[in-house]
Amino acid sequence: MINIDLKGCGQFVSKPEFDSFVEKALSAKKVLDEGTGAGNDFIGWNHLPSSVDKQQIDECLAVVDSWLEKEVDLVVAIGIGGSYLGAKATIEALSHSFSAYFHGGYRGPRVVFAGENLSEDYMSELMDLVEVSNVACVVISKSGTTTEPAVAFRLIKSYIEKKYGKKEAGERIVAVTDKARGALKSLANQEGYKTFVIEDNVGGRFSVLSPVGLLPIALAGFDIEMLIRGAQDAERELMKDSSDNVAVKYAAMRNALYASGKKIELFASFNPKMQYVGEWLKQLFGESEGKQHKGIFPASVIFTTDLHSMGQYIQDGERIMFETVISVARTYRNVVIESDDQNLDGLNFLAGKHLEHCNKMAQTGTRLAHIDGGVPNIEIGIEILDEYNLGWLFYFFEKVCGISGYMLGVNPFDQPGVEAYKKNMFALLDKPGYEDQSKEIKKRI
Ligand code: PA5
Repeated sequence: MINIDLKGCGQFVSKPEFDSFVEKALSAKKVLDEGTGAGNDFIGWNHLPSSVDKQQIDECLAVVDSWLEKEVDLVVAIGIGGSYLGAKATIEALSHSFSAYFHGGYRGPRVVFAGENLSEDYMSELMDLVEVSNVACVVISKSGTTTEPAVAFRLIKSYIEKKYGKKEAGERIVAVTDKARGALKSLANQEGYKTFVIEDNVGGRFSVLSPVGLLPIALAGFDIEMLIRGAQDAERELMKDSSDNVAVKYAAMRNALYASGKKIELFASFNPKMQYVGEWLKQLFGESEGKQHKGIFPASVIFTTDLHSMGQYIQDGERIMFETVISVARTYRNVVIESDDQNLDGLNFLAGKHLEHCNKMAQTGTRLAHIDGGVPNIEIGIEILDEYNLGWLFYFFEKVCGISGYMLGVNPFDQPGVEAYKKNMFALLDKPGYEDQSKEIKKRI
């Protein structure tokens, strides 16, 4: 469950203005829910949580069990964009901040990511880790043809086959891809890998609640049933055609702010575990809204650290942004600041206070300072960082994104702009079929 607080926008958007955007948001929601808008063959995510059944969860858990039996301690999850960010965001948000540095007995597999970049050092260093691990791999690509994950998979597959033999490799590799198309599907069929299907009507950045997210999250030891339960509750709640619907309110306000000249949405959190939720949000909104020379530019920061880097600009630079703070009410752990007899650091005024109390005061102080500096503030609150609330949050932002895209007048479910870099890269790499483009592009460098 989430709360939304729009008071920090009061001095920037008048009540009648906001009300008119609520009407627009309700119309856009109708278009989305009735499936009459652009890209309506990609709105399967809108009812995805309620379509996940026990059998789908059990299939993911069966992979977890079989790899636990083999004492797999490293899972390389290969994917890029929507085929990686949701799982990465969830695992980072729910993991111990220092889990990478804890050693000891077998604690189940650790999930690391590959195929989301083309860095040679990254891949080579990953192989250092793979070589000292009991490894398995989940390769995720809806199209099954994306270059970055395909290259990473070629390397990992070859290593696993050499180390464990072809038959065992078949038990240590799982593919998540289209049900029929793409090179990955053909390869999985040929090698006999266990496969999970990404439905045709669910686009990459809307796929965290499908096996794309669920399988790596389950492998990292987190409760995917609770994640889905949170998303199911969100789906039910956010289906309501009401001006009280929090997705409608948020979509209305961000579009009202955009219309008033606030072109950047800065997603902020005071919890460093939320860093990759920020990355997930940047993809979700950036790839969905940034079209036809329109769209709110999504950026993300973690406070208080970024108050010491971006804080100056936010407070005092160009007045082109609004801030959306994802606020987590409760912590799991307690740290109380002690009194010190000498008080040389002058911090005894904090003695007896919880560190999180200081964090919350920093949050309130920042909010007021930024509003005073001309930065409207939206606060989205969850109770605690757990699977249930993350499931709620993911679905909430997806719903807002679908509504907002239609309010802007774009198709929120395609990404034609992503192709431009690929064409140039293929031409520069002399991919067969790109001969003419190769000649042209090489003249420009
Ligand atoms: O949201 C999207 O559609 C993209 O970000 C894709 O997820 C990304 O490009 C990866 O594509 P694929 O899963 O086909 O490899």
